[in-house]
Amino acid sequence: MNPLPATAPVRVRRAERSDLDDLVALEEASFDSDRLSRTQYRRHLDSDSARVLVASANHRRFLGTAVVFFRQGSAVARLYSIATRPDARGMGVGSALLAAAEDAARQRGCRRLRLEVRVDNETATRLYERLGYRRFARVAGYYEDGADGWRYEKALD
Ligand SMILES: CC(C)(COP(=O)(O)OP(=O)(O)OC[C@H]1O[C@@H](n2cnc3c(N)ncnc32)[C@H](O)[C@@H]1OP(=O)(O)O)[C@@H](O)C(=O)NCCC(=O)NCCS
Repeated sequence: MNPLPATAPVRVRRAERSDLDDLVALEEASFDSDRLSRTQYRRHLDSDSARVLVASANHRRFLGTAVVFFRQGSAVARLYSIATRPDARGMGVGSALLAAAEDAARQRGCRRLRLEVRVDNETATRLYERLGYRRFARVAGYYEDGADGWRYEKALD
């Protein structure tokens, strides 16, 4: 795989059925537990209460993904998952996905975006804090393997 030039603009689009193989492969490469299955991804692609986003740049059409959930009548959207392909990390893909997730939430009329992250995931917590997320709770045993999670929130203007 060619490396991503540092200057390549990252684009974010809505995921399609043809992204399913990449979505599942990235999920497996990125998470040891609490993974979304192919069936779950397929359902989210068709669901009104979810938005699956995919980042691309130049000729590389799949660099990362983010999944946002919405609840009817709720002003709070939830970032359920975000991941960048290991060979494309540190180049702004995660930041672009997060910005697009916020836009998607705003378009749905949501006022806040919330997320959970493992307390030992320093890369992700740094990213969230840099982009204006505020840590407001620690959730004991949040993950399938018993790990605690931080809960973060950002107000969407
Ligand atoms: C967390 C994760 C999604 C971040 O994705 P990413 O694409 O590497 O994110 P970014 O490149 O936008 O930001 C990461 C770092 O690269 C740096 N960076 C951002 N834009 C950059 C650019 N254009 N050029 C070089 N470096 C850049 C940022 O400064 C950032 O460092 P910092 O957070 O210390 O400030 C990625 O590490 C990942 O997939 N991890 C595994 C899955 C995971 O843990 N997901 C979160 C679950 S809650």
